[in-house]
Amino acid sequence: MPDGEARATVRSEARFGQGFITDAWYLAALSADLKPGKLSHAEMMGEPVMLGRSRGGVVFALRDVCPHRAAPLSAGGFHRDADGVETVQCPYHGWRFGVDGACAAIPSLTADQEMDVSRVRVRRYPVAESQGLVFIWLGATPASEPDSPPPQFPGVVGGKPKLVDRMVFDAHIDQAVIGLMDPAHGPYVHRQWWWRAAGSEHDKQKRFEPAEQGFVMVRHAPSSNSRAYAVLGGKPATEITFRLPGLRWEHVTVGRRQVLLLTCLTPIDDSHTRVTQIAWSDHPAFTLLKPVIAAWARAFLRQDAGMVQLQGRGLRDDPTLMWIDDADRQAKWYQALKREHLASRKAGRAFVNPVEPATLRWRS
Ligand code: FES
Ligand SMILES: [Fe+2]
Repeated sequence: MPDGEARATVRSEARFGQGFITDAWYLAALSADLKPGKLSHAEMMGEPVMLGRSRGGVVFALRDVCPHRAAPLSAGGFHRDADGVETVQCPYHGWRFGVDGACAAIPSLTADQEMDVSRVRVRRYPVAESQGLVFIWLGATPASEPDSPPPQFPGVVGGKPKLVDRMVFDAHIDQAVIGLMDPAHGPYVHRQWWWRAAGSEHDKQKRFEPAEQGFVMVRHAPSSNSRAYAVLGGKPATEITFRLPGLRWEHVTVGRRQVLLLTCLTPIDDSHTRVTQIAWSDHPAFTLLKPVIAAWARAFLRQDAGMVQLQGRGLRDDPTLMWIDDADRQAKWYQALKREHLASRKAGRAFVNPVEPATLRWRS
C-alpha cells in the first residue's frame, strides 16, 4: 500500500461477530493442574465442563452436568471396578460414566430392570496433552472431532514453565485478543520506567507475514526504547505470532538461549475471558531474575485487563468502531481470520489465510 494511502485510510467497519470460534483448540489447563484421580470444573463458552485425569493418567473432559438430574459430575469422584476400569461417579445417585461419556452403571437398577445404560451419554470434549499443556476441542456440535493436533510452540525449553499467571478479563474474547495485539497502547497503558523511558516514542516499522491460522511479526531486534529486553544481554531477536482462536506468543532468542512468553485466551462466556500467561526459558537471567520478570509480566497483564475492563462500558452500547491503518491492521486481520475460519467451516472447505505479507508502521 502506498504511504499516503496508509496514513489516510480510516475505515469504520461494521461490528464484528459477537460469537465464538468453534471447532478449535483452546487451552483448558496446564498438565500439572490435573492431578491423577482429581476432577475439576471450568466454564468454557458458557458451558460447564469437567476436566479430569484418571489414576491411570488419562486426561478427559465431559460436560459437567449429569444427564440424570443435572448434578455436576466434577463434585463426584472416580470409581474403580474389579477389572481396574475407571469411571466418574455422580455425587447424587452414583450413576457412573466412562471417560468417553457413556454411562457404565446406574446403581439404583435392580437385577431384573433391563436398561441399556450405555445409551445414556454425557457430552465428551476431545482433549490433547502436548508440551505440558492440555487443550480442549470446543466443537460446533457434539459430533465435531479435531482435524488437526493442537498447536506446537517453539521455545518450550528449560523444563517446567518459569512463570504461570492467570486472570480473568471482564471482556469478550474478541476484545481481549485485540487488546493483546494492539501496538499503539504501550506508551499509555504500560507507562512504567522499566519498560521504556517516559515520552520515548519512536516510529516503528515491522514486517508481518501470514502464519498457520494467523500471522507473525517476523524476527527482529526489539525496539531500542524497550528496556526490559536488556536483562537478557547479548543481541535479542524476537518474533511474535498470533494464531486463532486466541493464542499469542513471543519467542525471543539470544544466541542459543530462548524465551517463550505464551498467552492463551479461553472464553468463559461472552463477557469473561480466561487469560493464561506462561513463560519458558533456558536463559540464566530467568533463573536469577524470576521474581522480577514474573512481577513485570503480572503488571503488564493487569494493566491490559484494567483497560479492557474500562472499555467494557463503552462497548455495552454496541458502538461502531474505527479501525485505522496501520496501527489497527492486526485487529482487522484477526477479524478477517475469524470470518474465514467460520466461512470455511460452514462451506466444508480448507481454511485460506486472508493475511497478506505487509510492512506496518506506527509510532509507539
Ligand atoms: S443426578 Fe447424577 S446420578 Fe442422579
Ligand atoms: Fe498491553
